[in-house]
Amino acid sequence: MKHHFDFDKPVDRRLVPGEKWGRFGGRDVLPLWVADMDFAAPPPILEAIRKRVDHAVFGYTDVWPGLISAVIEGVWRDHQWRIEPEWLVWLPGVVTGFNLAGRIVGAPGDEIFTATPVYPPFLRTPDNNARRLLTSPLVERNGRWEWDREAVAATLTPHTRLFMLCNPHNPVGRVFDRDELEWIAGLAHRHDLVVCSDEIHCGLVLDQARAHIPLAALDESIARRTITLMAPSKTWNIPALYFAFAVIPEPGLHRRYLQAMRGVVPQPNVLGMVAAEAAYRDGDAWRHALLEYLRSNRRCVLDAVAQMPGLTTTSPEATCLAWIDCRRANLDDPAGFFEGAGVGLSDGRAFGMPGFVRLNFGCTRATLDEALARMSRALQDR
Ligand SMILES: Cc1ncc(COP(=O)(O)O)c(C=O)c1O
Repeated sequence: MKHHFDFDKPVDRRLVPGEKWGRFGGRDVLPLWVADMDFAAPPPILEAIRKRVDHAVFGYTDVWPGLISAVIEGVWRDHQWRIEPEWLVWLPGVVTGFNLAGRIVGAPGDEIFTATPVYPPFLRTPDNNARRLLTSPLVERNGRWEWDREAVAATLTPHTRLFMLCNPHNPVGRVFDRDELEWIAGLAHRHDLVVCSDEIHCGLVLDQARAHIPLAALDESIARRTITLMAPSKTWNIPALYFAFAVIPEPGLHRRYLQAMRGVVPQPNVLGMVAAEAAYRDGDAWRHALLEYLRSNRRCVLDAVAQMPGLTTTSPEATCLAWIDCRRANLDDPAGFFEGAGVGLSDGRAFGMPGFVRLNFGCTRATLDEALARMSRALQDR
């Protein structure tokens, strides 16, 4: 079925300096790396921003009741999680949000746990905040990335205070199910941990049989231990508008978080606020059309990679990201090899898992087909 949003229409991103398409200079490298998409933002967001720009004054601006209710109602509609207004903290970004969690939980010298591979700024959070990093790897079993529960439990120590969770997961694309989340909640209780749950990709669940479950929505006891981070930026492709929020139900944790922000972390950008209200209130039709487009791009990636000698991948349940295992392809530097072939991918080393690359299929089908063809040809011709 043809919808009325045209995701096939190319937008020439080379015309705007500093964006994804600028990284490889004048070289013919298709940029399938950083996790933004090549699609124009949804019409209701563009319209809301235009209207705000026409007002022509950009004075200091606090969040307003309509924005707060759009966020609360949007999260309820999409994830059946009831957020109380006093749990909210407004942020310019999710990376800021999890670094603040790293700063307020525990004390210098304590440990922060996360599983690899993971979005690279997770791995830098402990060092940014005088904490120590503990990791253990997710494991691939029968084409699906899972927790190695024994390994995680064996990695935690009495000095571990914070568990950094990414759900849906960048880069492996998993949407963790209730059983997995209950296991994480149990660990948090047993080891007296706070969980920082980065749920920025929650609007991008591709599998129709699956739903995102916010960790804090499981029950009140885990909600009291959880700092949830969300944003409209991935789902509606507006990351440079800088709007995100934390949900912190426990009053003491909420207060410490606000204290750590004071004088350091600014309000979100006013156009980001305007965009967020429009996204949560009027962005659902576009989001569903996007998911349909991403599902068919995912199909292309899975079919093409299955034919590439030495490469394997798993089907991402969410996100526009494919995590590709190149370890059997005998490439010293898989990301460098594909860049030489004209395709810019993210290097697994930065995610704590060498031998892998991450491919962002949030682009037009034409760009994706060309990138996949270049990858196949390069593997066959070498
Ligand atoms: C898991 C995850 N968290 C956070 C971010 C970035 O968040 P922000 O731009 O709001 O700092 C990304 C972007 O790729 C991401 O994948």
